[in-house]
Amino acid sequence: MSISATAAPLPKANFPVRRMDFSFAETSKYWWSGDPFMTHFMNNLSSLFPHGEKFFVDSVRAVRKQIEDPQLQKDISAFIGQEAMHSKEHQTYNDYAQAHGIDLDVLDMRIKVLLEWVTKFTTKKQRLAATCALEHFTATMAEQLLAREDINMQMTDPRMYKLWLWHAIEENEHKSVAYDAYLAVGGGYWLRTLTMASTSLMFIGVIAWFQLDLLRKDGQLFNWSSWKYGLKALFGPRNGYITGLIRPYLQYYKPGFHPSQQDTVALENRWRTRLGFDG
Ligand SMILES: [Fe+2]
Ligand SMILES: [Fe+2]
Repeated sequence: MSISATAAPLPKANFPVRRMDFSFAETSKYWWSGDPFMTHFMNNLSSLFPHGEKFFVDSVRAVRKQIEDPQLQKDISAFIGQEAMHSKEHQTYNDYAQAHGIDLDVLDMRIKVLLEWVTKFTTKKQRLAATCALEHFTATMAEQLLAREDINMQMTDPRMYKLWLWHAIEENEHKSVAYDAYLAVGGGYWLRTLTMASTSLMFIGVIAWFQLDLLRKDGQLFNWSSWKYGLKALFGPRNGYITGLIRPYLQYYKPGFHPSQQDTVALENRWRTRLGFDG
């Protein structure tokens, strides 16, 4: 019998890498229901992705050799493929914003400098813990975007709608990969949760800074009706987007937490069908 006939079949990744190629040539400047504040909030998030997601990939790649589980190795490859595609498509988004006079390149450059600084002063395991923390943010933000029709229906541009919901599906598909890599290299509770606390402060600080900067440069800093709309959408006590993230955020601090405890499989399946993905 030949070797190939007796060898155990190689595992397949648990999720696919989808090739996308967005164009925002037809997208207007204030694509979120015509509102400057919320459009800039999404611009803000998008400016973080090209270098942010590269940081995630580098952090996981740095420990890859220490991981023996063949299934996790396959999932790491798919994770790298998905995040690389997100970086690429968000660069397309950022170029579209730039064409509308919204300078996301300067924000992108600040993130690059910040992450280079973080990389210089941290260990591989600390960077992986930071990646787990930020992947928890992206997964829970993405889950809420998928689950909340009242929020996602405010994305009135069809290309942006598809970009963000595609990204949201994939953030949920791969939400356990960095975390499993962290566990596989012996990452523990205290590093994970202390890193979450410090990463959160940095993340919130950057978002607040960038939001004010975007509004100011666009002449929208004193557009009070847009502030009112945006603050209600984000922080409304009952239905605010960020309000809804508080509970899942706190769950990260529980000993024994794992991203898969939040079951999003049915939600992902529903959206795969809705967006016409066959895998
Ligand atoms: Fe991503
Ligand atoms: Fe991710």
